[in-house]
Amino acid sequence: MGQEVTIRLASKSDARPVAEIYLSAAREAFDREPEHFRVPSLDEATSLFMPPGAPDAALFVAEMDGRVAGFAEVLLRRPREEPSMLRPRVLGHVRELGVSEDARGTGIGTLLMEAAAKWALSEGAEAIMVDTGAKNTQARRFYGEHLGYRELGVILIKPLS
Ligand SMILES: CC(C)(COP(=O)(O)OP(=O)(O)OC[C@H]1O[C@@H](n2cnc3c(N)ncnc32)[C@H](O)[C@@H]1OP(=O)(O)O)[C@@H](O)C(=O)NCCC(=O)NCCS
Repeated sequence: MGQEVTIRLASKSDARPVAEIYLSAAREAFDREPEHFRVPSLDEATSLFMPPGAPDAALFVAEMDGRVAGFAEVLLRRPREEPSMLRPRVLGHVRELGVSEDARGTGIGTLLMEAAAKWALSEGAEAIMVDTGAKNTQARRFYGEHLGYRELGVILIKPLS
């Protein structure tokens, strides 16, 4: 990697640059699946990441050359109290991950996923999961072939009109 990248927990002032990266991922998702995704306004997107650091959640940012070049939001999912067929285990859940288009392929997404996994482990998680769109081939390659995640389930959908 050419430039130095620092991974740190987000502060309040990171909400806007994180939202900008989120919006560029939203535009890409909308282009792939316009029936399922929308592109929020910048204010809506900023409010999603404000304040950072809700309980059982962490927002990491990657800083490169003094600017935010990527982010990962990870949550802890605790087992439900009622009995179920699912093994009751604490999971880390990477809810959002995004890297600026001009900084992709340089290892930032990998560093963010490592930070998310380390945080989840330190909070008692036994495994870490992420979900992504079936048509997001870039992300599926990244999680599967590059990071070694395996596909566990499939969500099926059909319009009702
Ligand atoms: C998926 C994403 C987070 C990957 O981040 P990244 O910083 O580009 O990934 P890294 O540089 O750490 O890893 C590169 C690896 O991923 C793959 N990759 C994914 N996107 C790539 C890109 N645009 N350019 C080069 N490699 C890419 C490569 O195959 C590479 O694997 P390899 O080194 O084994 O060949 C990034 O492409 C992104 O922000 N995508 C849009 C948002 C999104 O889809 N988020 C995930 C959905 S929840």
